[in-house]
Amino acid sequence: MKITVVGAGAVGATTADNIARKELCDELVLLDIKEGIAEGKAQDMQQCAHLLGFDTRIIGSTNDYSKTAGSEVVVITSGLPRKPGMTREELIGVNAGIVKGVAESIIKHSPDAIIIVVSNPMDTMTYHALKSTGIAKNKLIGMGGALDSSRFRYQLSQHLNCSAADLNAIVVGGHGDTTMIPLIRLATWNSQPVTKFLSKEQQDKIVADTMVGGATLTKLIGTSAWYAPGAAGAAMVEAIVRDEKKLISCSVALDGEYGQKDICLGVPVVLGRKGWEKIVDFDLNADEKALFSKSADAVRNMNDVLKTTA
Ligand code: 2OP
Repeated sequence: MKITVVGAGAVGATTADNIARKELCDELVLLDIKEGIAEGKAQDMQQCAHLLGFDTRIIGSTNDYSKTAGSEVVVITSGLPRKPGMTREELIGVNAGIVKGVAESIIKHSPDAIIIVVSNPMDTMTYHALKSTGIAKNKLIGMGGALDSSRFRYQLSQHLNCSAADLNAIVVGGHGDTTMIPLIRLATWNSQPVTKFLSKEQQDKIVADTMVGGATLTKLIGTSAWYAPGAAGAAMVEAIVRDEKKLISCSVALDGEYGQKDICLGVPVVLGRKGWEKIVDFDLNADEKALFSKSADAVRNMNDVLKTTA
């Protein structure tokens, strides 16, 4: 099994680090456009092999896509991260060209790869990569919901004073500060609805804090977060390579599901060896459906910008 991570910045390197520690492949390629950075980080990670007890071979490459040939899963993290006060959407002008070039180079060398897109604005970049490469829709998956759902569980665990591992909670819709939809009505604490234990004010705060989870960290750190994004990307890779059939919220191409077409948006999907294998209908209520449709409108407007930028 060979896996590639494109982009050796904080998110890409953390994704690669998690993949190596979990021994999800024999060979892991880390590629970056900046001279030496991927080689350096790959060596640094490889020097942990004895300390952490893993056998994955990690290869760094400065923009040589021939080294990625034959990858079965590729994670694209390339592009600029957010600065404080910036929305993910403001990155479209620069990142659209980068993601298109990367996706095309990847497919040239690994035509059968399953691609996970992390670059922002993620839903639009996933759609863009799908259109640029023309690969089967089940092989193109955007990473947003896995991260946002984990941030949602974090917020819930703080208010309920419970283990995040005991929570089941999912975020659907776009991966944007105003487009994501934490489904609190459906969240459970070991089968009990969390709404039973939380006041309306607490519920509203949890939802609001989840939605700006990334922005809050960007403000504190001065750039985009990387630990949870890297862990979320690696968890998706794990679900695919181990054929786990895990139900994870991912941005995928909709063709009528959840009332939307010709768009990539976060919905619950089953991840396995074939990529995303099935979209699961969560029976949203009227309010949630309205939020989903508003989220789709915002992402569609962003997708329209692609016509003028890339
Ligand atoms: C975040 O929300 C990187 O978009 C990512 O932190």
